[in-house]
Amino acid sequence: MGRVFAIVNQKGGVGKTTTAINLAAALALEELPCLLVDIDPQANTTGGFGFARDPERLSTYDVLVHGARLAEAALQTEIPALKLIPSSKDLVGATVELMQQDGRAFKLREALAEARQEHDFVLLDCPPALDLLTLNALVAADALLVPMQAEYFALEGISELLHTLERVQSTWNAKLELEGVLLTMYDDRTNLAQQVTANLRAHFGEKLLRTTIPRNIRLAEAPSFGQPVLLYDPRSRGAEAYRDLAREVMVRNGVESRRTATETAREVRFWPYS
Ligand SMILES: Nc1ncnc2c1ncn2[C@@H]1O[C@H](COP(=O)(O)OP(=O)(O)O)[C@@H](O)[C@H]1O
Ligand SMILES: [Mg+2]
Repeated sequence: MGRVFAIVNQKGGVGKTTTAINLAAALALEELPCLLVDIDPQANTTGGFGFARDPERLSTYDVLVHGARLAEAALQTEIPALKLIPSSKDLVGATVELMQQDGRAFKLREALAEARQEHDFVLLDCPPALDLLTLNALVAADALLVPMQAEYFALEGISELLHTLERVQSTWNAKLELEGVLLTMYDDRTNLAQQVTANLRAHFGEKLLRTTIPRNIRLAEAPSFGQPVLLYDPRSRGAEAYRDLAREVMVRNGVESRRTATETAREVRFWPYS
């Protein structure tokens, strides 16, 4: 049974989409079947895989509002083990349309029932808001992955999110957990970053992930080439960091790579896997 992670932070620009794209890619490159669901009407994850806007295509909107099956909406990415449910700008109106429906917070959870069986990991890229779309993700998820920058007010921003987590736990999804807090665009040379990290460590303990994602220009460039950084520049620091994150997540969840020794040996000549 797969694990479902909502990648969430109500703040924009903290690295949710970058993490969704590259963590999913890194897990899928370990031959673990993964599904990435783009729940943000801005559709940055969809664009980041090189899928242009296409009003004819089924999207997360059709899944949430019209009960389309995930399998019908899934797009095959360049990485064989990774499929994507694309977003579309229709999703902006989904909240209003869902308001008239029963069980509006459970739409994604219902839609994911089958996908959970078929994938090791399902990642949900959330919009920068604690709205009905994000609520659907929190109700559907087993755990939250919270990307954030090491800023002075980081903890303040996160307290609203943790409050939401508690509300969702008590009302809709008792087993929802915090998987981890991930520091993104991280520069450990600054005193500020070190202080904030120490505070976060004191507050979150083991929930503060050991892996940090450095600021790396390759991560920002890759989406305009329609590729995860792991394909665009597999030797970059950004790619390395997301491979480390994938391994940390795998270890924490007791999941092993399905790459065979032969595959690894063959690819090691081209790929920076070891
Ligand atoms: N580690 C990083 N290094 C450099 N640029 C990054 C990094 N992470 C994200 N970015 C850039 O920062 C911007 C916001 O990141 P994004 O992942 O879209 O955040 P969110 O989805 O939380 O709004 C994007 O332009 C992205 O390319
Ligand atoms: Mg985003």
